[in-house]
Amino acid sequence: MKIVIVGGGSSYTPEIIEGLILRHDEFPVDTITLVDIASGKEKLEIIGQLAERMIDKAGVPIELTWTLDRRAALKDADFVSTQIRVGGLKAREKDERIPLSHGLIGQETNGAGGIFKALRTIPVLMELAEDVNEICPNAWIVNFTNPAGIVTEALLKYGAHKKVIGVCNIPYNMTQSAAEILQEDPKDVRIEFIGMNHFVFGSKVLVRGENKLDQVIDALVSQSVDFSPANIVSSGWSETFLRAVNMLPNPYHQYYFQKDSTLKKDLEAYEDNGTRAEQVQKIEEELFETYKNPDLDIKPEALEQRGGAYYSDVACSLMSSLYNNSQNIMTVNTLNNGAIVDLPHDSVIEVNCFITKDGPIPLTVGRIPQQIKADILMMKAFEEQVIKASLSGDYYDAYRAFIMNPLIKEEKTAKMVLDELLDAHKDYLPQFN
Ligand code: G6P
Repeated sequence: MKIVIVGGGSSYTPEIIEGLILRHDEFPVDTITLVDIASGKEKLEIIGQLAERMIDKAGVPIELTWTLDRRAALKDADFVSTQIRVGGLKAREKDERIPLSHGLIGQETNGAGGIFKALRTIPVLMELAEDVNEICPNAWIVNFTNPAGIVTEALLKYGAHKKVIGVCNIPYNMTQSAAEILQEDPKDVRIEFIGMNHFVFGSKVLVRGENKLDQVIDALVSQSVDFSPANIVSSGWSETFLRAVNMLPNPYHQYYFQKDSTLKKDLEAYEDNGTRAEQVQKIEEELFETYKNPDLDIKPEALEQRGGAYYSDVACSLMSSLYNNSQNIMTVNTLNNGAIVDLPHDSVIEVNCFITKDGPIPLTVGRIPQQIKADILMMKAFEEQVIKASLSGDYYDAYRAFIMNPLIKEEKTAKMVLDELLDAHKDYLPQFN
């Protein structure tokens, strides 16, 4: 069995290598190929060599190679995991800094920054999907590339290859934290999720059939727990909000339901330490220095400073479940197909699914609770508009996405920020030129 990791030079890759090593009995991968682009060659080499040392130490029969030739890499692939960042962290820095400099939230997957990440990424992944469909048509694409939900919907609706599943660590993190609160084994805890990637709510916390949502909300009220990954500084939630919504918010909801205070906090952090992208560049430099150490042959703990820590658990469990037809339940991004009755069948949602060898089968969610219904419908319409703009390259399509987004809206600011971002990213937006 062969796995191809597109964006293999990412500092996150040691995680997925560790996951594949740990699961080798149940998921016997024999070939891993890391692929990256020419500008990432040096990082790819460092990661390739570390991965090789990790595999040697573990003594598992996996052959690892790395290459800049994506099409050659795809030959005979069974799984293609994508974790790319078009324009690198420098582009993320602009996505964060430009909106912040106009008094808007500046975040890599939300607001104006998230829109631009999608505009740069979708065309590139469309090309990858064409290659996969031609070279390894039976392979599953497991997409981690952000904004994961929007990108997955673009691929599933308009891409050449339909075996695509989107994944994120947020539902996993929320489940782990709920289990910790309830002092249960995470395997016994299942949150019922409703919504989309980075805009998902937990509507039930089921433990052996009993809904323990109230207990988890009580713990959130007392602020004794925090669901947030390393990239988000949480301020906690008010009791009134939690009791009224009566669902678990995800960490990214702070940008929507605590917009003013989060913006203030983010602007202060930006003035003190620069953008998150700048911090991550420093973390990455240190990580790569650590990775270079020829004596290092395991995933270093320092990787946990990254917000996406533990993503490999999700990726590897998913690939193993597909391979083994295990029919276990996992939370992934897939076609709605009626699970949420208020959304179109071809919308991508983040939902609990049975994972079968033929793909995920979403579990019925039903209607969207009234208190979040307008938000979900609006965000889905916004996501559709972003996808449209990414494919059309039409200025007005992009502007429409800007004024539909609740973190932007204001018409004149929308134009200013849009124009500045279009100019800043012009090298990565051929469809707009
Ligand atoms: C979270 C999100 C990921 C995102 C990551 C960013 O885990 O779920 O989608 O990529 O944080 O982390 P970073 O360390 O790059 O800021």
